[in-house]
Amino acid sequence: MFPIIFAALLISDVSAFIHPGALHTSGDFERINTHVVNGDEPWNTTWGLLTTSPYAQSSYQPKPQATVYRGYNGVDAENYQYLYKDAAAAYQLAVRWKISNDSAYADAAINILGSWAATLTAINGTSDKFLASGLYGYQMANAAELMRDYSGWDSSNKTATGRMLTSIFASMNTLFLENHNGQNDYHYYANWDQCNLASLIAIGIFTDNQTMYDDAVQYMLTGPSNGALPVFDIANYTEDGSGKVLIQGQEAGRDQGHATLDIVLLGVIARQSYNQGDDLFAAYNNEILNAAEYVSKYNIGYDVPYTPYDSYQGNQSVISNNSRGDIRPGFELLSAHYGQLKGLNSSWTDAYRDFINANSTDGVEGGGGNYGSTSGGFDGLGFGTLLYRIS
Ligand SMILES: *[C@@H]1O[C@H](CO)[C@@H](O)[C@H](O)[C@H]1NC(C)=O
Ligand SMILES: *[C@@H]1O[C@H](CO)[C@@H](O)[C@H](O)[C@H]1NC(C)=O
Ligand SMILES: *[C@@H]1O[C@H](CO)[C@@H](O)[C@H](O)[C@H]1NC(C)=O
Ligand SMILES: *[C@@H]1O[C@H](CO)[C@@H](O)[C@H](O)[C@H]1NC(C)=O
Ligand SMILES: *[C@@H]1O[C@H](CO)[C@@H](O)[C@H](O)[C@H]1NC(C)=O
Ligand SMILES: *[C@@H]1O[C@H](CO)[C@@H](O)[C@H](O)[C@H]1NC(C)=O
Ligand SMILES: *[C@@H]1O[C@H](CO)[C@@H](O)[C@H](O)[C@H]1NC(C)=O
Ligand SMILES: *[C@@H]1O[C@H](CO)[C@@H](O)[C@H](O)[C@H]1NC(C)=O
Ligand SMILES: *[C@@H]1O[C@H](CO)[C@@H](O)[C@H](O)[C@H]1NC(C)=O
Ligand SMILES: *[C@@H]1O[C@H](CO)[C@@H](O)[C@H](O)[C@H]1NC(C)=O
Repeated sequence: MFPIIFAALLISDVSAFIHPGALHTSGDFERINTHVVNGDEPWNTTWGLLTTSPYAQSSYQPKPQATVYRGYNGVDAENYQYLYKDAAAAYQLAVRWKISNDSAYADAAINILGSWAATLTAINGTSDKFLASGLYGYQMANAAELMRDYSGWDSSNKTATGRMLTSIFASMNTLFLENHNGQNDYHYYANWDQCNLASLIAIGIFTDNQTMYDDAVQYMLTGPSNGALPVFDIANYTEDGSGKVLIQGQEAGRDQGHATLDIVLLGVIARQSYNQGDDLFAAYNNEILNAAEYVSKYNIGYDVPYTPYDSYQGNQSVISNNSRGDIRPGFELLSAHYGQLKGLNSSWTDAYRDFINANSTDGVEGGGGNYGSTSGGFDGLGFGTLLYRIS
């Protein structure tokens, strides 16, 4: 497994997990519930958007598959849309239960998790199967973590869900991080590592697996490959006037869809570990904020400096304007942590959050189903205006 060589950066040596404690804690739900009960904006509008989502209805029926295929291997048709839609539904229903207290939503959420646990045997396809193991692993585990204390969740079914997450998702997450599908450490772009790390952290928390959780946090801090914080940081720039540090991330020269996805996944990773007492948000002088500021400034239309980057696809000599102004959920989480909770200057991230919201249904951050029907619209769990915003 991954060597533990940088323990000094960890703020706490966690010995028991806080539950729920992946993306959300019980303290978060106190804040959220108060806003919803009071009808405060913009939380109330976002709650309204969630409650009308087709993925948050108690009548939702999952379509579990024995083998999920992502990437066409020449034989088996892709069917991974069933998994990303069901993962979004499990999460949205779990959130709806936590806020409404209506067990109809809890039962629908555990029905999704349990029926997949009873059916899924493998994730396959092309190398893209490792995107499925990462993205849907962190999403299913977050749904499971929210349902963890539901008294109606039969313990054998809960155990079956943990077994699925560990034996199918986490084992692929670990395999990918260890040998990168047979490629060198700098081949796969950062989001591949990052989704698999987000998954291991979430599954470690749900299954109380300290080793799994610690290994993933350490990989983030000291790992050898593109998604880990030291390698992800391609260049630091000092912004004129503000003195702010802007960090060029590993996918800046590829396209902005992936450059922004990296920031969303880093937010997920950092929030999940922050809720267990490990502050990855603060690591390397707030690297994640500085990288978010760079991406945000560029995507809302300002120029940023750029250093040529030698990717496995060759020299990326200029920043890529492909998908510049990409609209995806996930930036509320970063603004809430750095700007609202820590009082740091997150002005570009805040502006990009507002730009995304301005281009979203009802002017707030939605989730799966609100950003198109293809997989990119389901990479982030979203609803951050309801779930993360403090003020
Ligand atoms: C909250 O939003 C709902 C629509 O989802 C609306 O009917 C209701 O009036 C709003 N509550 C307040 C207090 O504004
Ligand atoms: C659900 O229960 C929580 C915790 O008891 C409470 O804070 C919240 O207001 C309740 N929500 C509703 C809609 O009753
Ligand atoms: C868990 O629940 C699902 C859906 O309700 C069901 O299909 C499955 O058989 C259950 N599994 C166990 C181990 O109870
Ligand atoms: C995935 O598919 C390939 C090609 O069809 C097959 O050789 C392999 O055994 C499959 N792996 C799993 C885990 O099902
Ligand atoms: C806990 O995680 C470690 C590292 O990923 C893994 O080797 C081990 O099998 C897991 N333990 C259980 C009980 O699943
Ligand atoms: C950027 O700054 C951070 C924090 O001060 C430092 O750890 C890192 O090595 C720097 N990165 C580069 C590429 O210079
Ligand atoms: C990449 O392209 C830039 C701009 O054309 C050039 O300055 C740089 O030397 C190239 N880097 C490599 C490693 O070829
Ligand atoms: C996008 O980038 C390409 C390559 O650098 C450049 O030729 C093009 O003019 C840019 N388009 C816009 C709208 O900036
Ligand atoms: C925050 O940073 C921006 C530039 O990134 C700057 O324009 C603004 O004045 C700063 N805000 C404060 C309160 O320092
Ligand atoms: C998103 O909103 C901004 C600000 O309101 C606007 O300038 C921009 O054109 C919109 N972008 C898209 C893709 O709709």
